[in-house]
Amino acid sequence: MTTLIKGGTVVSSTGSSPADVLVEGERIAAVLAPGSAVGASISADDVIDATGKYVIPGGVDGHTHMEMPFGGTFASDTFETGTRAAAWGGTTTIVDFVVQTRGQRVQDQVARWHDKAAGNCAIDYAFHQIIGEVNDESLKAMDELIGEGITSFKLFMAYPGVFLSSDGQILRAMQTAAANGGLIMMHAENGSAIDVLVQQALHRGETTPYHHGTTRPWQTEQEATHRAVMLADLTGAPLYVVHVSAKQALARIAEARDAGQNVFGETCPQYLYLSLEEQLGAPGFEGAKWVCSTPLRARAEGHQDELWRYLRTGDVTTVSTDHCPFCMKDQKELGIDDFSRIPNGIGSVEHRLDLLYQGVVDGRISLEKWVDVCCTAPARMFGLDGRKGAIAAGADADIVIYDPHGHTSIGLGKTHHMNLDYSAWEGYEIDGHVDVVMSRGTVIKDDTGYIGAKGHGRFVKRNLSQNLI
Ligand code: URP
Ligand code: ZN
Ligand code: ZN
Ligand code: ZN
Repeated sequence: MTTLIKGGTVVSSTGSSPADVLVEGERIAAVLAPGSAVGASISADDVIDATGKYVIPGGVDGHTHMEMPFGGTFASDTFETGTRAAAWGGTTTIVDFVVQTRGQRVQDQVARWHDKAAGNCAIDYAFHQIIGEVNDESLKAMDELIGEGITSFKLFMAYPGVFLSSDGQILRAMQTAAANGGLIMMHAENGSAIDVLVQQALHRGETTPYHHGTTRPWQTEQEATHRAVMLADLTGAPLYVVHVSAKQALARIAEARDAGQNVFGETCPQYLYLSLEEQLGAPGFEGAKWVCSTPLRARAEGHQDELWRYLRTGDVTTVSTDHCPFCMKDQKELGIDDFSRIPNGIGSVEHRLDLLYQGVVDGRISLEKWVDVCCTAPARMFGLDGRKGAIAAGADADIVIYDPHGHTSIGLGKTHHMNLDYSAWEGYEIDGHVDVVMSRGTVIKDDTGYIGAKGHGRFVKRNLSQNLI
């Protein structure tokens, strides 16, 4: 089966030019100059007209939590519903987190995650490993997982008693990663300090979602980020700080990068657009929709504008969703009288490409930066380059045709495809539209809607991350 995508503008992380893309089977066979003799001689089985549209690599969402256990419940998207929603939005690969917590064996948890995902996914998927309990056994498992294609390890400085690692444990895990070539991912918030602030706030009767934000102030994020950067420097481990929301934490990351350290920042659409005042501060219990950690930050303090700026400077390397949806009914409601019981997370896996494209329309970032942070850089960071994140001969034919003259209304009338009873993005209007989504040579979404199949998506073994910095 061959498909020729004709007449579009191919956008990569480094430039844009008119080109036709030839797909043979599951791979991209050639990227052809328009009107080339080779192009003219091809009789493809199928021709897709991309005139006036952008042809970009399928999105790589490097941070999702399908069915994640949290706070006595589970994230509401399964691998089936979450990857289908991702496909609707032009994401063709997710990297989800296997969770290991106290008393669990890492390898048992990896087997559980494979069971949950296998045969259920609409798009390709890979795994990171959460190490919730650093001990001799889990450190040994980190070495084993490298060979199984799980090459990055998330540690937590937050959530004491559940996921938090002590500084000594972090040091040991970083030493292990420095030796085996793995990447350390860090949830950088000072969890012990936050727990005290939370108890003090509840004691004062401050129980609403807004106080989720006020009890996780930027100082707790900057302090933890600094500690993680220093421990990474000490051990030589590469460090990827996840879901950064505070401008002060990013300044610390930028400083480390300027000094030549292998440190990277990830942010998420919610931190670029949403705020403590407008969303967490919504009337009544509404703010629960936006309870996530790190929290949404005060617009009055200028975090959102600074995050966009750090995208331009390259100190924010990737934009992932941290997709971790919980319904209002029966899930977020667990915290109706106590914000600390609201399960943490926002669902956005369907909207990342659109939301960041709006940043292009608004003049915040370039087209090429859009493709870089959503597709190419996450593929490179997570050892998927060569296969994912680029329109290039030999790569998997994961391709999105994006219409800059189209329009997308997010959230309105519950039109999303995530298993979620509200939208964190209700009312957002996007001056663009995901038209066609191809996963390994198969069109899984076109203008008629989703036409993919459960089980099409395969587990992708990741390489060690190359060429960091
Ligand atoms: O609020 C969040 N971020 N929920 C998901 C778990 C995590 O810490 O990434
Ligand atoms: Zn986290
Ligand atoms: Zn997360
Ligand atoms: Zn369209």
